[in-house]
Amino acid sequence: MVTKIGLDLGYANITISDSIAEIYREPSVALVYKEPKADQRRIICVGSEAMVRGSEGIGADGSLLVRPFKNGILFDHQITKEIIQRALAALGEVDKLRCAVGVPSDFSPKQEKELFGMLTAAGVETAFSVARPVAAVIGAGYSPAMSVISVNIGALSTEIAIMHRGEVLSLTTAPVGGEDFDRAVKEHILEQGEVNVSLIVARAIKERLGAVWKGRANDSLDIEGTLSLTGNKLKMNVTTEDIVGVFEKPLERLIGAVHAAVLAIPPSAVEDIFKNGIVLTGGGAELYGIDVLMSRVLGISVTKPDGAMDCVAKGLSRINAFVSPRAKVGNKNITAQVAKYYETSKNTRGSK
Ligand SMILES: Nc1ncnc2c1ncn2[C@@H]1O[C@H](COP(=O)(O)OP(=O)(O)O)[C@@H](O)[C@H]1O
Ligand SMILES: [Mg+2]
Repeated sequence: MVTKIGLDLGYANITISDSIAEIYREPSVALVYKEPKADQRRIICVGSEAMVRGSEGIGADGSLLVRPFKNGILFDHQITKEIIQRALAALGEVDKLRCAVGVPSDFSPKQEKELFGMLTAAGVETAFSVARPVAAVIGAGYSPAMSVISVNIGALSTEIAIMHRGEVLSLTTAPVGGEDFDRAVKEHILEQGEVNVSLIVARAIKERLGAVWKGRANDSLDIEGTLSLTGNKLKMNVTTEDIVGVFEKPLERLIGAVHAAVLAIPPSAVEDIFKNGIVLTGGGAELYGIDVLMSRVLGISVTKPDGAMDCVAKGLSRINAFVSPRAKVGNKNITAQVAKYYETSKNTRGSK
């Protein structure tokens, strides 16, 4: 019976980790049918089913792929609730579910309250929130007391936590993420060949062929687009070499944001933090070579853990396991609390 979970409700994906770190992931998206006349709509399906059915014929019958977030902010409660419900259903039997949920650092208390309301409506008994980059470090297998720069690259934004001996010194969110890289691919193809491709196709190109550092084997992908002048459909082949250098602008913004957070580290914490450097997580960390490039540009070591995309959900479920049921958990002091539990449990385990 599942009683404690970590839930990472991301702009692109909703990811759940249970206490044995089993991972469930679904795209945070719904296929919505908009009645042509009346101001009404119907959710046809959510998650991967919506992604598949939606990308086959978006708009053709009046249906649209909709994400429940806008500018990183929850704006569609009905869709969010359905997506959460669908994801929780994958867990099977649950009892008195306690959920540690990852939230962006700029989430307002009002939004948090609304989110908790949706979780309760979806069957969760209690919930508490943790900033995503903080959870990511713990999910990567490190102690919450570690001094480190945690960078979590999502689809819409990059969240940075500066952590020092169990304290979170700063949390920042930069408005740059995986989708900016998709857009760079889309714009490049339009400029080069006057061909329009969807953002879904651009994302596939980025994931399959994109690289920001040397070493990726040459590969190619057959795609479909439309000629911008005539609107005629067209099939074409894109290779790794075709998109060399296209990510420069979003990369500059992303690495610039990490640099700014690094510059703000208090001198007394620099030595400790620089020993461990950056832990890079989130789906965006999977862009080929981004860890190497970031390390070279900033002169700081960068570690990309295995399963970087799941680290937030895994960390949240570990935090949930360590925090006592009676604890009043707040986003700000969670690290210190978890560090205490974590160290105690480690010592107990060690003395056996
Ligand atoms: N192999 C890959 N190469 C490049 N980008 C990737 C890869 N795998 C996933 N991504 C990107 O990661 C982002 C999704 O990451 P995720 O952490 O799930 O986002 P969010 O937390 O915002 O939901 C997308 O922009 C996706 O294109
Ligand atoms: Mg993420």
